[in-house]
Amino acid sequence: MTTEHPGLSELARRPAADSVSEPFGAHGFADVNKFLLVYKFGLAEIGTKINILAEELAHRGRGNPIEHVSPRLKTPASIAAKARRIGCPLTFDDLRARIRDIAGIRIVCGFVPDVYTVARMLTGQPDVRLVVTKDYIAEPKPNGYRSLHLIVEIPVFLSDRVVAVPVEVQLRTVAMDFWASLEHKIYYKHDAHVPAGLRAELAAAAEDAARLDQRMQRLHQEIHGPRG
Ligand code: GTP
Ligand code: MG
Repeated sequence: MTTEHPGLSELARRPAADSVSEPFGAHGFADVNKFLLVYKFGLAEIGTKINILAEELAHRGRGNPIEHVSPRLKTPASIAAKARRIGCPLTFDDLRARIRDIAGIRIVCGFVPDVYTVARMLTGQPDVRLVVTKDYIAEPKPNGYRSLHLIVEIPVFLSDRVVAVPVEVQLRTVAMDFWASLEHKIYYKHDAHVPAGLRAELAAAAEDAARLDQRMQRLHQEIHGPRG
């Protein structure tokens, strides 16, 4: 489809906070749901891979490196809002090509090395194609945000074709997740205008979280040995 989709343009005109479940015309609604379907399948595929890794690693008796996993599908309203923000035309072809985080999954691990182990195991699978890596653990964002972000492509087998579906994978530790959740809340509470003092405190809190990660890792190694 190359013309702007009426359902999506209508959504884009509305305020971003508009209800996402509100239908935008029966025709538009069905089209958007169809567009989102492969992303839902991609998320299911990657979710299965992660569950298999978690369960198999737990059976190996060295403990499960994965604490919890949360998948999410971007809502039509937030897809339209992001498209508007990045100047992406509201056609399905453009959205498909330019918005790579319609399907997203967050993997929260116990320790920093677990993050890289899980990332390596996932991207090492022959049907997973690693497209982009952003390592905000090695290079934290100026606000202190830490996580390992991957965009991977995973094949989804439909009745008549195979689609390579992009999925954004965010990997982080419990401490990084704790910080990111609260930072997100504060950010939104201040409508993105966080006062400078608070920004500095948030960055310092991120350093504290990173130190806590190091400390827990050291304790873990003392108890279980360096390869524990
Ligand atoms: P988006 O357009 O937001 O997807 O950003 P991007 O394409 O530049 O990608 P990036 O990898 O920087 O961030 C993608 C996602 O990571 C965001 O949608 C958030 O879920 C998360 N994220 C990135 N930066 C921050 C941050 O500073 N704080 C929090 N809490 N989350 C963040
Ligand atoms: Mg995003």
